[in-house]
Parts: sequence; C-alpha cells; structure tokens
Amino acid sequence: MKNYSIIVLPLARWEEYRTLRLEALQVEPYAFGKSYEEEVENSSEVWQNKLTQNSDLGFYLFAESGGKLIGMIGCDYETKLKIRHIATLKAYYVSINARSQGIGRVLLEVSLKRIKKIQKIHKIRLSVNVLQTKAIALYKKFGFEQVGYFKDELFVEGKYLDQIMMEKFL
Ligand SMILES: CC(C)(COP(=O)(O)OP(=O)(O)OC[C@H]1O[C@@H](n2cnc3c(N)ncnc32)[C@H](O)[C@@H]1OP(=O)(O)O)[C@@H](O)C(=O)NCCC(=O)NCCS
Repeated sequence: MKNYSIIVLPLARWEEYRTLRLEALQVEPYAFGKSYEEEVENSSEVWQNKLTQNSDLGFYLFAESGGKLIGMIGCDYETKLKIRHIATLKAYYVSINARSQGIGRVLLEVSLKRIKKIQKIHKIRLSVNVLQTKAIALYKKFGFEQVGYFKDELFVEGKYLDQIMMEKFL
C-alpha cells in the first residue's frame, strides 16, 4: 500500500481508535491479553484516557490510509524509579486487508526510533502468543530476543495458550 501515513491520533478521533482496537480483539482473539468482551464495555473516558498518554507515559501510533485507520501500535514507559528504563510495546495490529505490504514493519520501525530518543529507556520488552509467528519473525528482525516462555498463560476459546517474552536492549 503506497498511500498511507503513520500518525499520532488527535483526541477528537478517539472513536476511530476504539473501532480499530475492537476490530483487532475480534479478528485476532489469540494475539492479545485483553478480550473484546471486556474492552467493548469501556466508557468513552477510558478510551480517551488511553489515547491521551503524554510523552512521559508512552504513545500510540496509527497507520492511516484514505482517512481510515488500518494499523496501530502502543508503547508504555514505566514510571517507577527502579524500572523507568523499560518500555513495553503493546496493541500491535494491522487490518487484514492491509497486511503483508510493509505497514507492520514501518509501525515498528517508527516506534523504535521514537523510543530511542527517550534517554532514560534502556530496554524494550513485549509478550507475544506463540501462534503469532509473523509477529515473532518481525520482532526478531528488529533485534528482539526470546527471554522467556510462559506455558498456559492465556485461556482463549477453551484453549490454553503459551506466551513468549522478548526484549531488546538499546
Ligand atoms: C504482525 C502484524 C502487525 C504485521 O503487520 P504487516 O503489515 O502484515 O507486516 P509487514 O507487511 O510489514 O510484514 C512484516 C514482515 O513479515 C514477513 N512475513 C510475511 N508473512 C509472514 C509469515 N507468515 N511468517 C513470517 N514472516 C512473514 C514479511 O516478509 C515482512 O518482512 P520484510 O519486512 O523483511 O519483508 C500483522 O500481521 C498483525 O496484525 N497480526 C495479528 C496481530 C498480532 O499478531 N499482533 C502482535 C501481538 S504481540
């Protein structure tokens, strides 16, 4: 897909973030720790608060094409003194019709550049379901290494699923 941009979403467009996040949870129930059934109950304030993280707390980036959001990634910065050198990637998703065109790679690339500018961050971590082989391959390409394997970490649609912990040092 040639015509897309990576943007920070203005707060006024929070409902588009909600729509994309709920799509992600419905389309990929195995990929995320959160559930559609729970998140769909969030109030508008909760969605807005999630989106308005300031630069001290992290960010959300979105891929937009033709005025429509087609991908997203989030990052949380820890704030407690002993762990404030850690950033956690989350909510990484590209809509099915927009996949395999490099958008996921660019979302990750732009996020890592952004995180590298934050002096205090020494390490980036994430957890990913073992079934998400494409995401795992992508994380490895960007230098993430598997450092943990949690068996039966999620219970989704009657099945226990294993999670991999990955990290990358800056
Ligand atoms: C992971 C995800 C965000 C990637 O988005 P995308 O836009 O399709 O990614 P890209 O088009 O940039 O492809 C990324 C790379 O994966 C490679 N790839 C494509 N299909 C693959 C597959 N089945 N297995 C391994 N690698 C694959 C591509 O060749 C590309 O590599 P390159 O950049 O070196 O050419 C998307 O697949 C997705 O939303 N998956 C479901 C949700 C998910 O797993 N999220 C992660 C939660 S931790």
